[in-house]
Amino acid sequence: MLHLGILISGRGSNMESILKAIKRQKIPINPAVVISNNPGAIGLKIAQNMGIKTAVVESRGFTGNRWDYDKKIIQVLSEHGVTEKNGLVCLAGFMRIISPEFIRKYKNRMLNIHPAILPSFPGLHAQRQALEYGAKYSGCTVHFVDEGVDTGPIILQAAVKVKDDDTEETLSKRILAKEHAIYPQAVKLFAEGRIKTFGRRTKVKSRGR
Ligand code: GRF
Repeated sequence: MLHLGILISGRGSNMESILKAIKRQKIPINPAVVISNNPGAIGLKIAQNMGIKTAVVESRGFTGNRWDYDKKIIQVLSEHGVTEKNGLVCLAGFMRIISPEFIRKYKNRMLNIHPAILPSFPGLHAQRQALEYGAKYSGCTVHFVDEGVDTGPIILQAAVKVKDDDTEETLSKRILAKEHAIYPQAVKLFAEGRIKTFGRRTKVKSRGR
């Protein structure tokens, strides 16, 4: 059985959409643990109310280096069966840069959601970047995590039309609705072993092939 660990820092709405989909669609993955670097993350309460185990690895005031911190996360993941052999790690609004060591350990087993059509508008404030650039379409991307910033192989994308009167808030809201659709979908594809990676390109195997 595959075990899922979700890393969050705040609201956790993508986490919630994944957890709900696992239950509703009977996705073959065990939602093992939700970990936050922020003890005040609202998502922790949501996960607990859904009966999911949670853990906090507080980053504020942590004095070690990035890898020292990530080792603590890996320990919690491992304790819940989310290993480099049996695990999937989903970053869902986890506001920390991950060390290369952590990324390499979970190579092809760590996903992220980004609120833009990559490779456009990587990094922070992607929705604001799209508006300021004058893009007519933006959207969201689920991708494998590699050592760059939002540069890993793309799994799924969804587009959103930018309206003339959009603000960062209204655009973000419409993009978020798409995020809640494609992130669970990507987790399902992963759990079903249907994502094949060829260098930068990924392909989704159809069922029964
Ligand atoms: C989302 O917009 C996601 O794309 C970005 O961070 C935000 C997290 O929101 N990486 P939530 O915590 O899942 O509600």
